[in-house]
Amino acid sequence: MIGRETIDRIRSRVDIVAVVSETVKLTQRGRSWTGLCPFHQEKSPSFTVSPERGLFHCFGCKTSGDVFKFVELSEGLSFIEVLKKLAERAGVEIEDERGDHDRASEQRARKAKDDLYGINAIAAEYFGRMLHEHPLAGQARDELTRRGLPIDGPVVEAFGIGYAPHGWDGLAVHLQRQGVSPAQAEHVGLLAPRSSGSGYYDAFRHRLLVAIKDVQGRVVAFSGRTLPNPPGVADDGKGPPPKYVNSRESPIYAKGHTLFGLYQARAAIRTAQEAVVVEGNFDLVAMHARGIENVVAPMGTAFTEDQARLLRRFTQSVVLLFDSDAAGRKATWAARDTCKTVGLVARSARLGEGKDPDDFLRSKGVEPMRAVLSNARSLDEVLVRDACAALSRSSDLSAKKRALEVVRPLLNEQEPAFREILIRRIAADLDLDVGALWRTLRGDITHVPERASRSTTPSGTGGTTEEERLSKAIGEALFSCPDVLDEPDVQDCLALVAGDWTFAIAALREEARTAREERRPLDVASLIARVPGSIQDLASASLVAEEDPAAVRRIVRRSAVLLQNLVAEARYTELAREIERAESQGDHDRAMTLTMEKLTTERALRKARLEAAKEDGG
Ligand code: UTP
Ligand code: MN
Repeated sequence: MIGRETIDRIRSRVDIVAVVSETVKLTQRGRSWTGLCPFHQEKSPSFTVSPERGLFHCFGCKTSGDVFKFVELSEGLSFIEVLKKLAERAGVEIEDERGDHDRASEQRARKAKDDLYGINAIAAEYFGRMLHEHPLAGQARDELTRRGLPIDGPVVEAFGIGYAPHGWDGLAVHLQRQGVSPAQAEHVGLLAPRSSGSGYYDAFRHRLLVAIKDVQGRVVAFSGRTLPNPPGVADDGKGPPPKYVNSRESPIYAKGHTLFGLYQARAAIRTAQEAVVVEGNFDLVAMHARGIENVVAPMGTAFTEDQARLLRRFTQSVVLLFDSDAAGRKATWAARDTCKTVGLVARSARLGEGKDPDDFLRSKGVEPMRAVLSNARSLDEVLVRDACAALSRSSDLSAKKRALEVVRPLLNEQEPAFREILIRRIAADLDLDVGALWRTLRGDITHVPERASRSTTPSGTGGTTEEERLSKAIGEALFSCPDVLDEPDVQDCLALVAGDWTFAIAALREEARTAREERRPLDVASLIARVPGSIQDLASASLVAEEDPAAVRRIVRRSAVLLQNLVAEARYTELAREIERAESQGDHDRAMTLTMEKLTTERALRKARLEAAKEDGG
C-alpha cells in the first residue's frame, strides 16, 4: 500500500504542464494552457490544463483528472505503475509495509532490470549507427528503400531501425568497450557464448533490425530480418535461415505480453479510438511511415490474450488487417475468442489475394489502404462469409452442410436482427432458400441453453419433431412429383421446410433445373448422391412413387400452413422474451420495435391458425 501522503507529495512535486507537454503541444492562455485533446479527435483545442489546480479537462470529450489520471490514460499504465513512474520523476521514495529484506531484494531486481534496459539502449544506438557507417550496411539500406522507407527519417528513429553487422563480434566488441558484462548481454539475447573455448559472439548478424519497445518506450528486445548475402559471400550451406529472428525472452521481455508498435501508436490509437492489428513488423512500419499510426503487431505469435488486454487499455475497438492467405484467415478466426474474452470489439479488413499491408501500400498507396480500413466489416460477418464463400453455388450439399455446422455456433451468439442479416447473406452465398435456411439453423438457435430453460415451445408438440414431420411430408410429396416445384404457390411453401429435407429439396430443384436446360430426364443417381445420407432412402422411394400433382399440391400447402404456424409461435415466444430483456435493460426503443413486430406476428399467427383449421376441415 502506498499512503495518501506519498501520493499527495508526488502530485505536488510533478509539474502537470511539463508532463502533459510531452504528449500534447500546449499554449498558454491566461492562467491555464490549452491544446488539442489527445483523447478524442478535434481540430480546435478544447483540452485545458490548469497548473494551479493540478487538473486537466477537455471541454469536448469531458475527460478530466489529475496528473496521475493523465499518465494512466495516455500511456495505458495502471495506477501503481503511474505512481512508480512519477515518484521516480519527482524523486519521491515510495514507502511500503514490507520488511527491509523484501525491499532490498526488490531494489536489486529493479536495478538488474534497469541494467538490461541499459544494455539494449546501448545496442540500439550501435545498430542505428551501423546502418549508416558499416561497410556492408548497403543491403539493409536497400531493403528500406525497397519498402519505400526513408533512411534518414523520423520512422527509422521512432522504430529504432538499425543494422546488425555482418561478422561475429561487432556488437560484442562494442559492448566490451562500453564496459557491459557479456553475461548480461547474453541474458537479453544479444550475445551467445562460443561453444568452443571462451568468449561470446553476436546473436544478430547481417540483419535489418527493429527495436521492440514496451509501453513506456524502453527497448526490451530486437527483431531482425534476413538480408541478401553481402557481395562475394557464399551461403554457409546450412539452408536458408529463418526470415525473422527475435531476441529471446528475458526478465524484461515476454513476447506474448508485448505488442510491437504500441508505444509509437498509443497516441494515435487514443485519438482514432481504434487500433489496427497487422501480422508483420514491417507492415506496421510501412503503415506508420505513410501516416496510419494507430497500428500494432503481435510479432509472429498469435494475437494473445495478454496482448489483447494490453491493447484494451487504450481502446475497445480493433480492426484486424491480416494477410489474405490461409494463415491470415486462420489468425482471424483465432483472434475472435481472444477479442471476445477481453472485450475488444473486432472488425476485419481484407486486402486482395496474396497481399500483405506492406505490398498493398507499395503497389496501391495509402488512400486505397484507408478505404480498406474504413470498409472493415464485423469480424463475425467476415468469418461467416469466409466459411461459406469457399463453396461455390454448385458445391455439393454435404459441403454446404459442413459450412453451416462451422457457422452455426457463431450465428447462435448474434443479436436476432443481425443474425437474420447474416442468414440472408449465407443463403445467397450457398444458393439456399432464406426461410428454409433460417428454419434449419433455428432448430438449434432456439435451444441456446440459457433460454431453453425458461420456457419450451408453446405448441407442446415437441417443436423440432413436428417440424421434421411436416418437412418430411413436403419433401416426400415433392420428390414424388418434381413437376410442381416451380409453381409459385409451391415455391412460397418451401421457405418453411427444415432440416435435411431443405438440402434434399435444393438438390432436387437444381437437378430439375439443369435437366430442363439440357433437355434430359432427371439423373436420379446423381440427385440421390447429393441428398443427405439420412434421407436418401426416403427420397428415392418417393421418386419412384410418382404422385398425382393435385394431391402433392394439397399436401405441400397443408403442411406449409402448419409449419407457418409453428414458426410464428416460436417467433412469438422469442419476441416476448426479447421484449422482456430489452425492458429490463431499459432499452425502450428496442422494446418498442420488438413489440411492433410481436403485433404483426400475432396477426400472422391468428391467420395461420384459421387457415390450419380450414385445411383440417377441408
Ligand atoms: P511474414 O512472413 O508474413 O513476414 O511474418 P512479413 O513481415 O510479410 O515479411 P517481409 O519482411 O515483408 O518479407 C509476419 C511476422 O511473423 C514473424 C515476424 O514478426 C513477421 O513480421 N516471423 C515471421 C517470425 O518471427 N519468424 C519468421 O521466420 C517469420
Ligand atoms: Mn511482407
